[in-house]
Amino acid sequence: MLISAAGPGSVPVASPTGAAPTDFVPAPQAGDYPIPANPVVAVCGATGAVGRVMLETLERLDFPASRVRALASARSAGTTIPYTGPGAPDSGQLTVEEMTPDSFQGVNIALFSAGAAITKQFAADVNAAGAVIIDNSSAYRMDPEVPLVVPEVNPADAHRHNGIIANPNCSTIQMVVALAPLVKLAPIRRVVVSTYQAASGAGQAAMDELYNQTGDFLAGRSFTPQAFAHQIAFNCIPQIDVFLPDGQTKEEWKMVVETKKILHNPDIQVNATCVRVPVLRSHSESVNVEFDAHAGKYVLSLSDVRAALASAPGVVVIDDPEHLDYPMPAFTAGRDEVFVGRIRTDPTVENGYQMWVVADQLLKGAALNAVQIAQLLLP
Ligand SMILES: NC(=O)c1ccc[n+]([C@@H]2O[C@H](COP(=O)([O-])OP(=O)(O)OC[C@H]3O[C@@H](n4cnc5c(N)ncnc54)[C@H](OP(=O)(O)O)[C@@H]3O)[C@@H](O)[C@H]2O)c1
Repeated sequence: MLISAAGPGSVPVASPTGAAPTDFVPAPQAGDYPIPANPVVAVCGATGAVGRVMLETLERLDFPASRVRALASARSAGTTIPYTGPGAPDSGQLTVEEMTPDSFQGVNIALFSAGAAITKQFAADVNAAGAVIIDNSSAYRMDPEVPLVVPEVNPADAHRHNGIIANPNCSTIQMVVALAPLVKLAPIRRVVVSTYQAASGAGQAAMDELYNQTGDFLAGRSFTPQAFAHQIAFNCIPQIDVFLPDGQTKEEWKMVVETKKILHNPDIQVNATCVRVPVLRSHSESVNVEFDAHAGKYVLSLSDVRAALASAPGVVVIDDPEHLDYPMPAFTAGRDEVFVGRIRTDPTVENGYQMWVVADQLLKGAALNAVQIAQLLLP
Protein backbone atom coordinates (compact mmCIF):
# COMPACT_ATOMS: atom_id res chain seq x y z
CA MET A 1 0.00 0.00 0.00
CA LEU A 2 2.97 2.35 0.50
CA ILE A 3 3.92 4.59 -2.40
CA SER A 4 7.11 6.54 -2.00
CA ALA A 5 7.87 8.27 -5.29
CA ALA A 6 6.57 11.80 -5.54
CA GLY A 7 4.49 12.32 -8.66
CA PRO A 8 3.22 15.36 -10.46
CA GLY A 9 0.81 17.39 -8.39
CA SER A 10 2.41 16.38 -5.10
CA VAL A 11 1.41 18.75 -2.33
CA PRO A 12 3.46 19.22 0.83
CA VAL A 13 1.19 19.38 3.86
CA ALA A 14 1.92 20.19 7.48
CA SER A 15 1.15 17.93 10.41
CA PRO A 16 -0.92 19.06 13.43
CA THR A 17 2.20 18.86 15.53
CA GLY A 18 4.06 21.23 13.25
CA ALA A 19 6.25 18.42 11.92
CA ALA A 20 7.89 18.72 8.52
CA PRO A 21 5.58 18.77 5.51
CA THR A 22 4.95 15.49 3.75
CA ASP A 23 4.20 14.93 0.08
CA PHE A 24 0.74 14.06 -1.18
CA VAL A 25 1.36 11.19 -3.55
CA PRO A 26 -1.84 9.84 -5.11
CA ALA A 27 -1.31 6.17 -5.85
CA PRO A 28 -2.17 5.22 -9.43
CA GLN A 29 -3.75 1.93 -8.44
CA ALA A 30 -7.46 2.54 -8.90
CA GLY A 31 -7.48 -0.39 -11.36
CA ASP A 32 -7.12 -2.75 -8.39
CA TYR A 33 -10.67 -1.86 -7.40
CA PRO A 34 -12.81 -2.13 -10.54
CA ILE A 35 -16.30 -0.77 -9.97
CA PRO A 36 -19.15 -2.41 -11.90
CA ALA A 37 -21.94 -0.33 -13.42
CA ASN A 38 -24.29 -1.51 -10.67
CA PRO A 39 -22.12 -1.78 -7.56
CA VAL A 40 -23.02 -3.18 -4.17
CA VAL A 41 -22.88 -0.26 -1.74
CA ALA A 42 -22.48 -0.55 2.03
CA VAL A 43 -23.39 2.49 4.12
CA CYS A 44 -21.21 2.11 7.20
CA GLY A 45 -22.62 4.17 10.05
CA ALA A 46 -26.06 4.08 8.45
CA THR A 47 -27.92 5.04 11.64
CA GLY A 48 -25.95 8.25 12.22
CA ALA A 49 -26.59 11.84 11.13
CA VAL A 50 -24.45 11.48 7.99
CA GLY A 51 -25.35 7.84 7.29
CA ARG A 52 -29.08 8.55 7.16
CA VAL A 53 -28.49 11.43 4.76
CA MET A 54 -26.25 9.16 2.67
CA LEU A 55 -29.12 6.73 2.23
CA GLU A 56 -31.51 9.56 1.36
CA THR A 57 -28.96 10.86 -1.16
CA LEU A 58 -28.35 7.48 -2.82
CA GLU A 59 -32.10 7.17 -3.23
CA ARG A 60 -32.68 10.75 -4.39
CA LEU A 61 -29.85 10.65 -6.95
CA ASP A 62 -30.92 7.20 -8.20
CA PHE A 63 -27.43 5.88 -7.57
CA PRO A 64 -27.38 2.71 -9.69
CA ALA A 65 -26.58 0.24 -6.90
CA SER A 66 -27.46 -3.41 -7.40
CA ARG A 67 -27.76 -3.71 -3.63
CA VAL A 68 -27.52 -1.30 -0.70
CA ARG A 69 -26.62 -2.51 2.79
CA ALA A 70 -26.87 -0.61 6.08
CA LEU A 71 -24.13 -1.31 8.65
CA ALA A 72 -23.75 0.14 12.15
CA SER A 73 -22.82 -1.00 15.65
CA ALA A 74 -24.31 -3.97 17.50
CA ARG A 75 -26.53 -1.43 19.30
CA SER A 76 -28.67 -0.84 16.23
CA ALA A 77 -28.35 -4.24 14.51
CA GLY A 78 -31.79 -5.50 13.55
CA THR A 79 -33.45 -2.10 13.39
CA THR A 80 -34.77 -0.97 10.02
CA ILE A 81 -34.33 2.14 7.87
CA PRO A 82 -36.66 2.94 4.97
CA TYR A 83 -34.90 2.83 1.60
CA THR A 84 -36.62 2.48 -1.76
CA GLY A 85 -33.87 3.55 -4.19
CA PRO A 86 -31.99 1.28 -6.62
CA GLY A 87 -30.74 -1.83 -4.82
CA ALA A 88 -33.47 -1.69 -2.17
CA PRO A 89 -34.97 -4.88 -0.75
CA ASP A 90 -38.57 -5.65 -1.77
CA SER A 91 -39.76 -4.55 1.67
CA GLY A 92 -38.39 -1.03 1.14
CA GLN A 93 -36.75 -1.39 4.55
CA LEU A 94 -33.03 -1.98 5.08
CA THR A 95 -32.29 -4.11 8.11
CA VAL A 96 -29.25 -2.71 9.89
CA GLU A 97 -26.43 -5.24 10.20
CA GLU A 98 -23.67 -5.18 12.80
CA MET A 99 -20.38 -4.14 11.18
CA THR A 100 -17.82 -6.95 11.50
CA PRO A 101 -14.66 -7.81 9.56
CA ASP A 102 -16.76 -10.22 7.45
CA SER A 103 -19.36 -7.60 6.52
CA PHE A 104 -17.71 -6.52 3.29
CA GLN A 105 -17.72 -9.66 1.12
CA GLY A 106 -19.32 -8.76 -2.23
CA VAL A 107 -19.29 -5.02 -1.48
CA ASN A 108 -17.80 -2.70 -4.14
CA ILE A 109 -18.14 0.70 -2.46
CA ALA A 110 -18.17 1.25 1.31
CA LEU A 111 -19.38 4.71 2.31
CA PHE A 112 -17.99 5.20 5.83
CA SER A 113 -19.36 7.67 8.39
CA ALA A 114 -18.80 5.97 11.70
CA GLY A 115 -15.88 8.01 13.04
CA ALA A 116 -12.13 7.78 12.48
CA ALA A 117 -11.48 4.90 14.89
CA ILE A 118 -14.06 2.68 13.17
CA THR A 119 -12.72 3.45 9.68
CA LYS A 120 -9.23 2.55 10.85
CA GLN A 121 -10.50 -0.61 12.54
CA PHE A 122 -12.18 -1.96 9.39
CA ALA A 123 -10.18 -0.41 6.50
CA ALA A 124 -7.98 -3.45 5.86
CA ASP A 125 -11.00 -5.79 5.88
CA VAL A 126 -12.88 -3.58 3.41
CA ASN A 127 -9.96 -3.37 1.02
CA ALA A 128 -9.20 -7.09 1.38
CA ALA A 129 -12.76 -7.76 0.22
CA GLY A 130 -12.02 -5.67 -2.89
CA ALA A 131 -14.16 -2.69 -1.90
CA VAL A 132 -13.20 0.98 -2.11
CA ILE A 133 -13.70 3.08 1.02
CA ILE A 134 -15.08 6.60 0.70
CA ASP A 135 -14.53 7.92 4.20
CA ASN A 136 -16.15 10.88 5.93
CA SER A 137 -13.91 10.78 8.97
CA SER A 138 -10.53 12.43 9.45
CA ALA A 139 -8.77 9.03 9.64
CA TYR A 140 -6.90 9.19 6.32
CA ARG A 141 -7.50 12.71 4.99
CA MET A 142 -3.91 13.83 5.29
CA ASP A 143 -2.40 10.44 4.39
CA PRO A 144 -0.12 11.13 1.40
CA GLU A 145 -1.50 8.02 -0.33
CA VAL A 146 -5.14 9.01 0.05
CA PRO A 147 -6.80 11.50 -2.28
CA LEU A 148 -8.98 14.14 -0.63
CA VAL A 149 -11.73 14.90 -3.06
CA VAL A 150 -14.38 17.51 -3.73
CA PRO A 151 -15.87 16.58 -7.10
CA GLU A 152 -16.42 20.20 -8.22
CA VAL A 153 -12.79 21.04 -7.40
CA ASN A 154 -10.39 18.11 -7.92
CA PRO A 155 -12.37 15.22 -9.46
CA ALA A 156 -9.32 13.71 -11.18
CA ASP A 157 -7.76 12.91 -7.80
CA ALA A 158 -10.54 10.39 -7.15
CA HIS A 159 -9.11 8.12 -9.84
CA ARG A 160 -5.70 7.93 -8.20
CA HIS A 161 -6.55 5.96 -5.09
CA ASN A 162 -5.44 2.65 -3.75
CA GLY A 163 -8.55 1.64 -1.90
CA ILE A 164 -9.37 4.70 0.19
CA ILE A 165 -10.73 8.08 -0.87
CA ALA A 166 -11.28 10.70 1.82
CA ASN A 167 -14.10 13.19 2.05
CA PRO A 168 -12.76 16.47 3.44
CA ASN A 169 -13.98 18.12 6.61
CA CYS A 170 -17.41 19.68 6.13
CA SER A 171 -16.21 23.25 6.69
CA THR A 172 -13.38 22.78 4.23
CA ILE A 173 -15.65 21.39 1.52
CA GLN A 174 -17.99 24.36 1.32
CA MET A 175 -15.10 26.83 1.46
CA VAL A 176 -13.09 25.20 -1.35
CA VAL A 177 -16.18 24.95 -3.57
CA ALA A 178 -16.36 28.76 -3.30
CA LEU A 179 -12.59 29.29 -3.60
CA ALA A 180 -12.09 27.05 -6.65
CA PRO A 181 -13.66 29.47 -9.17
CA LEU A 182 -11.67 32.35 -7.66
CA VAL A 183 -8.39 30.49 -7.96
CA LYS A 184 -9.05 30.34 -11.69
CA LEU A 185 -9.17 34.16 -11.78
CA ALA A 186 -5.86 34.75 -10.03
CA PRO A 187 -3.67 33.09 -7.42
CA ILE A 188 -5.00 33.45 -3.87
CA ARG A 189 -2.41 34.47 -1.30
CA ARG A 190 -4.38 34.34 1.93
CA VAL A 191 -7.79 33.28 3.26
CA VAL A 192 -9.16 34.26 6.67
CA VAL A 193 -12.25 32.28 7.59
CA SER A 194 -14.55 32.28 10.61
CA THR A 195 -17.13 29.52 10.78
CA TYR A 196 -20.56 29.37 12.36
CA GLN A 197 -21.07 25.61 12.56
CA ALA A 198 -24.35 23.82 13.17
CA ALA A 199 -24.85 21.41 16.05
CA SER A 200 -25.51 18.48 13.70
CA GLY A 201 -21.89 18.76 12.59
CA ALA A 202 -21.10 16.90 15.80
CA GLY A 203 -23.55 14.09 15.03
CA GLN A 204 -27.09 13.01 15.76
CA ALA A 205 -26.69 13.14 19.55
CA ALA A 206 -25.42 16.73 19.35
CA MET A 207 -28.36 17.80 17.20
CA ASP A 208 -30.73 16.19 19.75
CA GLU A 209 -28.89 18.00 22.55
CA LEU A 210 -29.43 21.42 20.97
CA TYR A 211 -33.10 20.66 20.47
CA ASN A 212 -33.72 19.26 23.95
CA GLN A 213 -31.52 21.78 25.74
CA THR A 214 -33.33 24.67 24.08
CA GLY A 215 -36.60 23.26 25.43
CA ASP A 216 -35.10 22.82 28.89
CA PHE A 217 -33.69 26.36 28.85
CA LEU A 218 -37.03 27.89 27.85
CA ALA A 219 -38.86 25.85 30.47
CA GLY A 220 -36.36 26.84 33.17
CA ARG A 221 -35.26 23.22 33.66
CA SER A 222 -31.65 22.40 34.52
CA PHE A 223 -29.52 20.47 32.03
CA THR A 224 -26.03 19.03 31.76
CA PRO A 225 -24.08 19.52 28.52
CA GLN A 226 -22.90 16.20 27.15
CA ALA A 227 -22.22 16.41 23.42
CA PHE A 228 -20.53 19.81 23.80
CA ALA A 229 -18.13 21.17 26.42
CA HIS A 230 -20.60 23.94 27.29
CA GLN A 231 -24.23 24.94 26.94
CA ILE A 232 -25.09 25.18 23.24
CA ALA A 233 -28.62 26.60 23.54
CA PHE A 234 -28.49 30.41 23.16
CA ASN A 235 -24.70 30.29 23.13
CA CYS A 236 -21.65 30.17 20.81
CA ILE A 237 -18.71 27.88 21.58
CA PRO A 238 -15.38 28.94 20.05
CA GLN A 239 -13.99 25.42 20.12
CA ILE A 240 -14.55 22.55 17.69
CA ASP A 241 -12.43 19.44 18.21
CA VAL A 242 -9.42 19.47 20.53
CA PHE A 243 -6.85 22.21 21.06
CA LEU A 244 -3.41 21.79 19.50
CA PRO A 245 -0.19 23.05 21.16
CA ASP A 246 -0.14 26.24 19.05
CA GLY A 247 -3.55 27.34 20.35
CA GLN A 248 -5.63 26.54 17.29
CA THR A 249 -8.18 23.75 17.37
CA LYS A 250 -7.88 20.62 15.27
CA GLU A 251 -10.95 21.69 13.25
CA GLU A 252 -9.13 24.92 12.38
CA TRP A 253 -5.96 23.02 11.49
CA LYS A 254 -8.02 20.71 9.24
CA MET A 255 -9.31 23.70 7.27
CA VAL A 256 -5.73 24.92 6.76
CA VAL A 257 -4.08 21.71 5.60
CA GLU A 258 -7.04 20.23 3.74
CA THR A 259 -7.46 23.41 1.66
CA LYS A 260 -3.81 23.20 0.58
CA LYS A 261 -4.15 19.53 -0.34
CA ILE A 262 -7.43 19.88 -2.29
CA LEU A 263 -6.32 22.99 -4.19
CA HIS A 264 -2.87 21.46 -4.80
CA ASN A 265 -1.38 24.65 -3.45
CA PRO A 266 0.97 24.42 -0.45
CA ASP A 267 1.51 28.17 -0.51
CA ILE A 268 -2.05 29.33 0.09
CA GLN A 269 -2.23 30.84 3.58
CA VAL A 270 -5.35 29.96 5.56
CA ASN A 271 -6.27 31.19 9.02
CA ALA A 272 -9.44 29.72 10.55
CA THR A 273 -11.55 30.29 13.64
CA CYS A 274 -14.23 27.64 14.07
CA VAL A 275 -17.27 28.32 16.24
CA ARG A 276 -20.23 26.11 17.14
CA VAL A 277 -23.53 28.00 17.05
CA PRO A 278 -27.07 26.98 18.03
CA VAL A 279 -28.16 26.14 14.49
CA LEU A 280 -29.52 22.65 13.78
CA ARG A 281 -28.19 22.11 10.26
CA SER A 282 -26.01 24.04 7.73
CA HIS A 283 -22.69 25.69 8.39
CA SER A 284 -22.03 29.37 7.60
CA GLU A 285 -18.63 30.93 6.96
CA SER A 286 -17.29 34.45 6.71
CA VAL A 287 -14.50 34.13 4.14
CA ASN A 288 -11.96 36.86 3.43
CA VAL A 289 -9.88 36.26 0.32
CA GLU A 290 -6.72 38.14 -0.55
CA PHE A 291 -5.43 37.56 -4.05
CA ASP A 292 -1.73 37.57 -4.81
CA ALA A 293 -0.08 41.00 -4.94
CA HIS A 294 0.46 40.43 -8.63
CA ALA A 295 -3.25 39.85 -9.18
CA GLY A 296 -3.34 43.26 -10.87
CA LYS A 297 -1.98 41.66 -13.99
CA TYR A 298 -5.11 39.51 -14.08
CA VAL A 299 -7.34 42.65 -14.13
CA LEU A 300 -9.42 41.57 -11.17
CA SER A 301 -12.59 43.37 -10.19
CA LEU A 302 -15.60 42.78 -7.96
CA SER A 303 -17.69 41.94 -11.00
CA ASP A 304 -15.13 39.29 -12.06
CA VAL A 305 -15.34 37.72 -8.62
CA ARG A 306 -19.12 37.80 -8.71
CA ALA A 307 -19.29 36.35 -12.23
CA ALA A 308 -16.82 33.57 -11.41
CA LEU A 309 -18.89 32.53 -8.40
CA ALA A 310 -22.19 32.77 -10.28
CA SER A 311 -21.00 30.40 -13.01
CA ALA A 312 -19.18 27.94 -10.74
CA PRO A 313 -20.44 24.35 -10.54
CA GLY A 314 -22.30 23.67 -7.31
CA VAL A 315 -22.47 27.36 -6.32
CA VAL A 316 -25.60 29.51 -6.05
CA VAL A 317 -25.11 33.24 -5.53
CA ILE A 318 -27.81 34.92 -3.42
CA ASP A 319 -26.65 38.49 -3.07
CA ASP A 320 -29.23 41.25 -3.18
CA PRO A 321 -28.68 43.49 -0.14
CA GLU A 322 -31.33 45.91 -1.34
CA HIS A 323 -33.95 43.21 -0.79
CA LEU A 324 -32.18 41.77 2.28
CA ASP A 325 -31.35 38.67 0.30
CA TYR A 326 -28.38 36.57 1.38
CA PRO A 327 -27.85 32.90 2.27
CA MET A 328 -28.90 31.73 5.74
CA PRO A 329 -28.63 28.29 7.31
CA ALA A 330 -32.34 28.05 8.10
CA PHE A 331 -33.04 28.08 4.38
CA THR A 332 -30.14 26.04 3.00
CA ALA A 333 -30.73 22.92 5.10
CA GLY A 334 -31.70 20.11 2.74
CA ARG A 335 -30.17 21.83 -0.30
CA ASP A 336 -27.26 20.40 -2.32
CA GLU A 337 -25.52 23.60 -3.36
CA VAL A 338 -23.03 25.93 -1.70
CA PHE A 339 -24.66 29.35 -1.31
CA VAL A 340 -22.61 32.55 -1.50
CA GLY A 341 -23.66 36.10 -0.70
CA ARG A 342 -22.48 39.40 0.83
CA ILE A 343 -19.81 39.50 -1.89
CA ARG A 344 -17.90 42.75 -1.56
CA THR A 345 -14.51 44.36 -1.72
CA ASP A 346 -12.33 44.42 1.38
CA PRO A 347 -11.00 47.98 1.31
CA THR A 348 -8.34 47.27 3.95
CA VAL A 349 -6.12 45.16 1.68
CA GLU A 350 -5.09 45.24 -1.93
CA ASN A 351 -7.00 42.69 -4.00
CA GLY A 352 -9.17 41.65 -1.06
CA TYR A 353 -12.74 40.34 -1.21
CA GLN A 354 -15.19 39.23 1.41
CA MET A 355 -18.01 36.68 1.10
CA TRP A 356 -20.49 34.70 3.18
CA VAL A 357 -20.67 30.99 2.37
CA VAL A 358 -23.46 28.71 3.61
CA ALA A 359 -24.08 25.01 2.91
CA ASP A 360 -25.83 22.01 4.39
CA GLN A 361 -22.87 20.26 5.99
CA LEU A 362 -24.72 16.95 6.20
CA LEU A 363 -25.24 17.06 2.42
CA LYS A 364 -22.46 18.89 0.55
CA GLY A 365 -20.23 18.74 3.62
CA ALA A 366 -20.56 14.97 3.97
CA ALA A 367 -23.16 12.63 2.44
CA LEU A 368 -23.67 14.29 -0.94
CA ASN A 369 -19.95 14.82 -1.48
CA ALA A 370 -19.34 11.12 -0.71
CA VAL A 371 -22.05 9.96 -3.11
CA GLN A 372 -20.70 12.33 -5.79
CA ILE A 373 -17.28 10.69 -5.35
CA ALA A 374 -18.95 7.29 -5.75
CA GLN A 375 -20.54 8.58 -8.98
CA LEU A 376 -17.06 9.50 -10.24
CA LEU A 377 -15.98 5.88 -9.77
CA LEU A 378 -18.77 4.44 -11.91
CA PRO A 379 -17.56 3.06 -15.28
N1 LIG B 1 -22.24 15.37 11.16
C1 LIG B 1 -21.64 16.02 10.18
O1 LIG B 1 -22.11 17.09 9.72
C2 LIG B 1 -20.39 15.47 9.58
C3 LIG B 1 -19.86 16.14 8.47
C4 LIG B 1 -18.70 15.64 7.89
C5 LIG B 1 -18.09 14.53 8.42
N2 LIG B 1 -18.63 13.91 9.52
C6 LIG B 1 -17.95 12.72 10.03
O2 LIG B 1 -18.76 11.58 9.75
C7 LIG B 1 -18.60 10.62 10.80
C8 LIG B 1 -19.97 10.28 11.39
O3 LIG B 1 -20.55 11.47 11.86
P1 LIG B 1 -22.08 11.55 12.32
O4 LIG B 1 -22.29 12.99 12.57
O5 LIG B 1 -22.96 10.83 11.36
O6 LIG B 1 -22.05 10.76 13.72
P2 LIG B 1 -23.23 10.02 14.49
O7 LIG B 1 -24.53 10.67 14.21
O8 LIG B 1 -22.79 9.94 15.89
O9 LIG B 1 -23.26 8.54 13.84
C9 LIG B 1 -22.24 7.60 14.08
C10 LIG B 1 -22.52 6.33 13.31
O10 LIG B 1 -21.41 5.43 13.53
C11 LIG B 1 -21.92 4.19 13.97
N3 LIG B 1 -20.99 3.52 14.87
C12 LIG B 1 -20.54 3.95 16.08
N4 LIG B 1 -19.76 3.02 16.65
C13 LIG B 1 -19.71 1.98 15.79
C14 LIG B 1 -19.09 0.70 15.81
N5 LIG B 1 -18.33 0.32 16.85
N6 LIG B 1 -19.25 -0.13 14.76
C15 LIG B 1 -20.02 0.24 13.71
N7 LIG B 1 -20.67 1.42 13.64
C16 LIG B 1 -20.50 2.29 14.67
C17 LIG B 1 -23.19 4.55 14.71
O11 LIG B 1 -23.99 3.38 14.84
P3 LIG B 1 -24.98 3.18 16.09
O12 LIG B 1 -26.18 4.02 15.81
O13 LIG B 1 -25.27 1.73 16.04
O14 LIG B 1 -24.24 3.62 17.32
C18 LIG B 1 -23.77 5.59 13.77
O15 LIG B 1 -24.38 4.95 12.67
C19 LIG B 1 -17.61 11.25 11.80
O16 LIG B 1 -16.32 10.80 11.50
C20 LIG B 1 -17.75 12.73 11.52
O17 LIG B 1 -16.59 13.44 11.88
C21 LIG B 1 -19.77 14.35 10.10
